[in-house]
Amino acid sequence: MTREDYIKNAAAQFETLLREQLARTDRMRQDCGVKDYTSLPVITVGLIGGDGIGPVIMDQAERVLSVLLDEEISGGRVILKKIGGLTIENRLALGKAVPDDVLAAIRSCDVILKGPTTTPKGGTMESANVTLRRELDLYANVRPVSVPEEGIDWMFYRENTEGEYVLGNRGVEVPGDLSMDFKVTTEPGTRRIARAAFEYAKQNGKTSVSIVTKANIMKKTDGNFSRICHEVAEDYPGIQAEDWYIDIMTANLVNPAIRSKFQVFVLPNLYGDIITDEAAEIQGGVGTAGSANIGDRYAMFEAIHGSAPRMVEEGLADYANPSSIFKAAEMMLRHISLREKADRLAAALTLCCETEKRLTVTGTKDGATCREFTDYVIEKL
Ligand code: IPM
Ligand code: MG
Repeated sequence: MTREDYIKNAAAQFETLLREQLARTDRMRQDCGVKDYTSLPVITVGLIGGDGIGPVIMDQAERVLSVLLDEEISGGRVILKKIGGLTIENRLALGKAVPDDVLAAIRSCDVILKGPTTTPKGGTMESANVTLRRELDLYANVRPVSVPEEGIDWMFYRENTEGEYVLGNRGVEVPGDLSMDFKVTTEPGTRRIARAAFEYAKQNGKTSVSIVTKANIMKKTDGNFSRICHEVAEDYPGIQAEDWYIDIMTANLVNPAIRSKFQVFVLPNLYGDIITDEAAEIQGGVGTAGSANIGDRYAMFEAIHGSAPRMVEEGLADYANPSSIFKAAEMMLRHISLREKADRLAAALTLCCETEKRLTVTGTKDGATCREFTDYVIEKL
């Protein structure tokens, strides 16, 4: 192909992308209602193992849920439904980020608890996470981080369906010369994540929301993200909306003198991805943080970390820390309004991870295995 051919193809592709994204904004504006879990006679919880250490930690999460929800399961209020097929082998064989039958099974559930899935680097195969977040329209990635002894109680609202991710596998390349990816910020997409963050702040007595962007450089996307967040903030008079740039906020989080004053963060997808790993590390490691992907109709809960292929290669999979997926399970229970169960799990985790700490999972053979630690948590439920 000549350079002119590349330009023509890219221009045509850009038109397609623009039309698709505009159609998506129209869809977002159609209000389909928010699912009310309290009114559901039966709640189906999908359990997905995933890749790498995923099945190891998910097996233990299933054990915990079976004990905790014993009554609900035997009484038919909750169904735990195992969903297979979301493995890197199956996805590569079928050439699909999420195979159709797996997606259909997921859609038949109300909420999902999912182990990490491996994302191939390069190529065109999209990450399963990104596909699921888009297909189920899980627009709010909600990640709590707390370090009680330091007074840190952070809640991150990461936009989860657009930004750098939505067209991440549909960039343009002129081989040998350049490559270009696209970042998308939409009005309704930003408005709904901002609304979610400010609502959380309001419901939980928080007094400030930090809007974190790089609007000095990404003038259109981040500029509008910030503007829309401020517009939403006008509906929340008691809550201060503060603008921060992502670079200095990254530094703030490792500054013990000021970091505990931050409360709620709202930020575009990629910045949210990066800074929540940093925040999780401050809490005690990415193995300790849960993550919720919330939409109006579905919700998916997962560990904040990846599938850790290196741990599997080194024969350490059984030593993986399940705390992160347990935290995710706790968030899930809260989301489906089983608050008392969520509190019980949270209390057991605090005991096992912070107060009593009889067993510690280190990710190496020096520490407890995933199963041993789970036995300990179950004992304390
Ligand atoms: C996360 C992960 C994912 C992301 C990967 C697995 C696609 O890092 O949930 O933070 O980048 O969003
Ligand atoms: Mg991440």
